[in-house]
Amino acid sequence: MKSMDQIVSLCKRRGFLFQSSEIYGGIQGFWDYGPLGVELKRNLKEAWWHDMISGHNELVAPANAPGPFEMVGLDCTIIMHPQVWKCSGHYDLFHDHMVDCRESKKRYRFDQVRGRWVEYADRSQKIFVSTLADIETELDEVRRRAMKFFRLRNKDADKISISNESLTIDRLDSTKEVLAPDAKNLDTLTEPREFNLMFKTTLGALGGENDATFLRPETAQGIFVNFKNVLDSSRVKLPFGIGQVGKSFRNEITPRNFTFRSREFEQMEIEFFCHPDQSQVWYKYWRDRRMAWYTKLGLSSESLIMREHHQEELAHYSVGTADIEYAFPFLPEGEYGELEGIAHRGDFDLRSHMEGKLNPATRPMEVELGENGKAKYRGSGRDLTYRDEVTNEKFVPHVVEPSAGADRGVLAFLCEAYSEDKAPDEKGKMQTRTVMKLHPRLAPIKAAVFPLVKKDGMPEIAREIYGELKKHMNVFYDEKGAVGRRYRRQDEAGTPYCVTVDTESLNDKTVTIRDRDTLEQWRVKIDDVVTDLTSRIQ
Ligand code: GAP
Repeated sequence: MKSMDQIVSLCKRRGFLFQSSEIYGGIQGFWDYGPLGVELKRNLKEAWWHDMISGHNELVAPANAPGPFEMVGLDCTIIMHPQVWKCSGHYDLFHDHMVDCRESKKRYRFDQVRGRWVEYADRSQKIFVSTLADIETELDEVRRRAMKFFRLRNKDADKISISNESLTIDRLDSTKEVLAPDAKNLDTLTEPREFNLMFKTTLGALGGENDATFLRPETAQGIFVNFKNVLDSSRVKLPFGIGQVGKSFRNEITPRNFTFRSREFEQMEIEFFCHPDQSQVWYKYWRDRRMAWYTKLGLSSESLIMREHHQEELAHYSVGTADIEYAFPFLPEGEYGELEGIAHRGDFDLRSHMEGKLNPATRPMEVELGENGKAKYRGSGRDLTYRDEVTNEKFVPHVVEPSAGADRGVLAFLCEAYSEDKAPDEKGKMQTRTVMKLHPRLAPIKAAVFPLVKKDGMPEIAREIYGELKKHMNVFYDEKGAVGRRYRRQDEAGTPYCVTVDTESLNDKTVTIRDRDTLEQWRVKIDDVVTDLTSRIQ
């Protein structure tokens, strides 16, 4: 069984991940990628960009797609016009709820998935106990969500009873579970406060409240506001997708679980524009395609689930969402954490940016009115409709959005890759080895080159091979210490192949290549090493 502690320790020891500003005690929710981590993350983003955008062939329909389509890319700014966030709904709706305990001075945030108050910055993840009882008397919205999520996660509950002391679930199989037996007096909680998750900043040296703007909490909005620019400049036709990879920022109240919930993170998002009549078919297509992408790169299908959102659980813009979730080792058995959301966003975003903020309570959506009876926030007034050249039909396209987190992706692949097995050391004695079984496309280092010993011309040959390989892939050269130990270091770094120059190499100009996972070894002519390895790391 792998534990999160083992994975975190390996990440630090081998230079995958470090806590940001560590020498000053660190800063919560921020992480730096070390020399191995930065390569792994780049490889993941490049695999995504290639497989989804640059390597996409628009002339033929991919397997299971309703037809061919185009994909283009974009790279937008992190700071955008403040009106973007008003019309997108983030300014009004992108909130978490927070309470303080007057007695203990501890702070809690409302965890929507668990339907409970969770202690802020509590590493042990202890759940604060007053839960639903105090929610009864608190915000209606919070209560509604609490019950909804609680029931969703406890589908086998026959009866849920709540008192100030505890929360009891009578299950259908006649068992009983008492949660939160150490409940505290609810009177000690402050009123819940709403807390906007966007990081605020000010434009210019003299900026006041009117110059306030935000770091983007998602990359998606940059795509929506550029929809017309892309249409006009690149001659794309519906259906088509725009992809973007970049940083997003959320002032999470409880950053936790290593990089899983960070305050600065990277997203890999696609906004796929299509005709409203076709949107459900495309939604299904993208759900299945994105799931297959993770398994192709090495996440085991037993650890992955596709969870379709319950109607009440949907975000304000969404008419359908499915999450791809992974069984991260920090979660209790049977629980999964979100890796990517695939949302059917309807025409919410384009219409909001045309007309003003839409009212999330109404479907089809209407513009939300302010106190003066006018649109609460004015949209851009730009025409973001699409005219079909063949039918001449004019409409606001619907959007399917596969939105993935690059950092969560890296974390899932690290967790999946971590394994321990037995391998012989130099003396043939079986030893436990730690090995990161990363897919060759993701592996930070593709191959390591070793001279068996530092004499007899072996280092010279090894350096030459290293130089040739470097032109094609990221390679590592190592001549220090026993060769067995050098193999172990590469196993921990996830390097799929090691090339060793030995005595035989001096005679027949061949080298040994060793496979990280199977430990199989074979001999290859020095002249063929580049071709052999290039074909293996695809
Ligand atoms: N544009 C839609 C959107 O942003 P989301 O579900 O809020 O949807 C998409 O975010 C993905 O971004 C998530 O599935 C997750 O992988 C990643 N993500 C969101 N918040 C994150 C955080 N605080 N830390 C790390 N990754 C996060």
